[in-house]
Amino acid sequence: MSKILVTSALPYINGVPHLGHMVGCLLPSDTYARFMRMMGNEVLYICGTDEHGTTSEVGALKAGMDVQAYCDMNHNRHAQTYKDFNLSFDFFGRTSTEENKEMTYHIFEQLDKNGFIAEKTVKQVYSVDDKMFLADRYIVGTCPYCGYDKARGDQCENCTKVLEPTELIDARSAVSGSKNLEVRETKHLFLNLPKIEDKLEAWLKTKEPFWPDVAYTIAKKWLKEGLQERCITRDLKWGFPVNKKGYEDKVFYVWFDAPIGYIGITKQWEEEKPQERNWKDWWLNPQNVRHVEFMGKDNVPYHSITFPATLLGTGENWTQVDFLKGMSYLTYEGGKFSKSEKRGIFAEDAVKEFPADYWRYWLMSNAPESSDSSFSWDLFAGAVNKDLNGVLGNFVSRVLKMTASKLGDKVPEGGENSKAENELIDVLQKRVNDYIKYMEEMEFRKALGELRAIWVEGNNYISAEEPWAVIKTDEQRAKVILRNCINLIRVYALLSAPIMPETSQKILDKLYTQPTLIKDFDVKKEMNFFKGGESFEVGDMLFERITPERVEELKTKYAGAK
Ligand code: MF3
Ligand code: ZN
Repeated sequence: MSKILVTSALPYINGVPHLGHMVGCLLPSDTYARFMRMMGNEVLYICGTDEHGTTSEVGALKAGMDVQAYCDMNHNRHAQTYKDFNLSFDFFGRTSTEENKEMTYHIFEQLDKNGFIAEKTVKQVYSVDDKMFLADRYIVGTCPYCGYDKARGDQCENCTKVLEPTELIDARSAVSGSKNLEVRETKHLFLNLPKIEDKLEAWLKTKEPFWPDVAYTIAKKWLKEGLQERCITRDLKWGFPVNKKGYEDKVFYVWFDAPIGYIGITKQWEEEKPQERNWKDWWLNPQNVRHVEFMGKDNVPYHSITFPATLLGTGENWTQVDFLKGMSYLTYEGGKFSKSEKRGIFAEDAVKEFPADYWRYWLMSNAPESSDSSFSWDLFAGAVNKDLNGVLGNFVSRVLKMTASKLGDKVPEGGENSKAENELIDVLQKRVNDYIKYMEEMEFRKALGELRAIWVEGNNYISAEEPWAVIKTDEQRAKVILRNCINLIRVYALLSAPIMPETSQKILDKLYTQPTLIKDFDVKKEMNFFKGGESFEVGDMLFERITPERVEELKTKYAGAK
């Protein structure tokens, strides 16, 4: 049994997760964590909300709330959504905690002590009336390129030009509207990445054979272009105050303390049961822990360069990322999800429309792994109707109904497998091996392709063997066929569990049986699990078809403001 540490990128507290976020890191990490547990490993699966930064301050300001209260509210909203999606975190924490503050301070102190922190003077806009330095995006004014009068100091939303705050015409503070702004000099702290570059490159080399191309290519590109010093402090109120003399009125930059949050959150987890748990077993134990990180591809530089460099710079024996799964983007009906335009379906609404498993199945089958993929209601309904309802759901209900009505409510007994069953078992074993291999490699689309193919094998088998016809002349043979089909249903439930946990449980409940590990999965043995005489119940259908009318309704409902 090995220790596997699974982390999902920590979602920004102010955002409302949409399907793209779900498939970008949350669902793949959950699928993998569930799968690895079923393979008999000791898994710790950590996530939480990323709470600091300008966007939280702005979000709270807009909501007319105190930042802490705003974060408390949104944290609960995130937690509820992930619960509705059946994400199996061992702990869902937060980055703004005392635990994370201690961790951040400790790491910063080591970096400073080891000479990896540089001080630099920079020019920055100061708002005299607000008595604060303004982050670029806190300054608004007229765009010099297109004349848009609400352009932000970092970028014009209208023409998308990247701006310097000093370029804005008629610049004013987004906090108060005051035009009393000055450019002043101020000191900031920088992470001296060029000084860690050699160490980092050597470390990255040790990962080369294991990292997927997307992640490795991005990391290499950064190294090739040469690393720059990165500013790790900000002039904000919301954040961890910098624990260095002369910087007390500044806070750490959100991207400095957010990844440290993985560790801080693990400390929160420990504090729930301090007798049994120890965060150090996971984070200061690189020899015995395999750390797998899931994230959208925009997050890759932070997780492959800045965070590993931060940990390396401490000179301490931290568990570093062993495998980094970077995902591309999901589009909505070919365009962007947009909160402000109410375009696209957001996670909390998705589970109100359909059970989580419908989403989990579709999203993981269409995960944007090697390139972007697109959500559409037609594709979604097609997969639910065809794969889930048509193939899986139909097989389960047909087999159980037929058995119950023709042979009674016990698994049929007696008779021997024939050539058809032996062939089926051989084919299934090959597919199961591939399924397990793809899941281990986190090739999710391929894994789900195998799972679907495994379901189809059952349909092919029952169509070829025709138990409904055979029963008229050879009841014993029909019993063998239906018993194999019932065993197959259990196999489906076990293999589908990491992707569709609720459906899996529903199926096992119909068969009055329990989940088991799938390590060393021996199809021949599993197809002989029910030997005959065991009880089962037909129960409800597993899935419901989505009608064309419903699809049209949903398209309109989520099309957004026109
Ligand atoms: N909040 C970031 C995002 O949603 C991810 C932060 S990951 C962390 O893109 F590790 F830094 F926390
Ligand atoms: Zn513009």
